Amino acid sequence: MLPEGALNLQELEQLAREKLTAMAYAYYASGALDELTLRENVAAWARLPIHYRVLVDVSARDLSTTVLGARVSMPVLVAPTAFHGLACSDGELATVRAAGGAGTIMCLSSLSNTRVEEVCAAAGGPVWFQLYVYRDRAATEALVRRAEAAGASAIVLTVDAPLLGRRERDVRNEFHLPEGLRVENMSAVAGHAEVALRSASSGLAAYFKEKLDPSLTWKDVAWLRGATRLPVLVKGIVRADDARRAVDHGASGIVVSNHGGRQLDGSPATASVLGPIADAVQGRIEVLVDGGVRRGADVLRALALGARAVLVGRPILWGLATAGEAGARGVLEALRAEIDHAMALAGCASVSDVTRDLLVPPGP
Ligand SMILES: Cc1cc2nc3c(=O)[nH]c(=O)nc-3n(C[C@H](O)[C@H](O)[C@H](O)COP(=O)(O)O)c2cc1C
Repeated sequence: MLPEGALNLQELEQLAREKLTAMAYAYYASGALDELTLRENVAAWARLPIHYRVLVDVSARDLSTTVLGARVSMPVLVAPTAFHGLACSDGELATVRAAGGAGTIMCLSSLSNTRVEEVCAAAGGPVWFQLYVYRDRAATEALVRRAEAAGASAIVLTVDAPLLGRRERDVRNEFHLPEGLRVENMSAVAGHAEVALRSASSGLAAYFKEKLDPSLTWKDVAWLRGATRLPVLVKGIVRADDARRAVDHGASGIVVSNHGGRQLDGSPATASVLGPIADAVQGRIEVLVDGGVRRGADVLRALALGARAVLVGRPILWGLATAGEAGARGVLEALRAEIDHAMALAGCASVSDVTRDLLVPPGP
């Protein structure tokens, strides 16, 4: 369960804040510019009333489902977030153990403080690898090869970050990785492992500008598909036409995401675009969603709108910061308990009972 002192994920953030340095907390918590999208991501789920069904036998409930064919104990995955070493000394090893223990999938960020090989070796469940495409394509391909060889079961291509969003809290703090923490996956490429102190700017924004490829297009989705035998998911979609393009370019899935409000401020909350996107995809590939999921009821809302599962970002970081692996596991178990409760109260015995009519009930 959640670390003592927190009854829910929002309260956990306050506990985590007390444990983290001011720079690390701001890096995890912040969004771009005025943080409109950051706030709206949470608020938009809350605006969707759930029209529960009554007199349904919910005495036995099953939260399990499959994502890209892999069974998960509940429709909640761990979103790729960078630099878990800022939260706890075991970094991503703690996270992957928590995800495996909870019976779900961890999506590992390219920008992890632990090498993909070590993370996969410690995993008790599937690991997906989130890919940022570097200007150095050979280094990018080498990274994909390593993720494959390590045992990752999907590549999640993030497409909403040609440049890093401007996070003013990070600019103010001159965000950088402290001594001892590096982008371990890139340690073999000269100059690619350090996110260094930059006076009057975010070191991560400078890293992106120098090293990541802003010329990425749909053609590169085809390139990536040719470069790996693993299924490719496209992460960072907020439009139905882009979702259709992802289908046309052979993606196995998409993640409806605005990067947790950290990229284009003013982009729509994912809760408000998920329904139309799922409708456009028409079940041809799997649709996942992240952004602002903080309650089990939000997971129900996402499934009702057509998502196969959700991913959670910041709450996992709050768990790690508060109590390492046990904290991250506690976040997943708290969500599981809330989903179970919400399903019971909504008249759903299994995730396949969570259908659109819970949000849009049939008329008279
Ligand atoms: C601290 C932090 C670091 C992140 N790093 C990455 C990353 O390396 N790659 C990526 O695709 N998304 C990254 N994201 C975005 C998450 O994958 C996810 O889209 C977002 O956190 C979901 O919103 P939530 O935090 O409200 O759950 C990051 C988010 C946060 C908060």
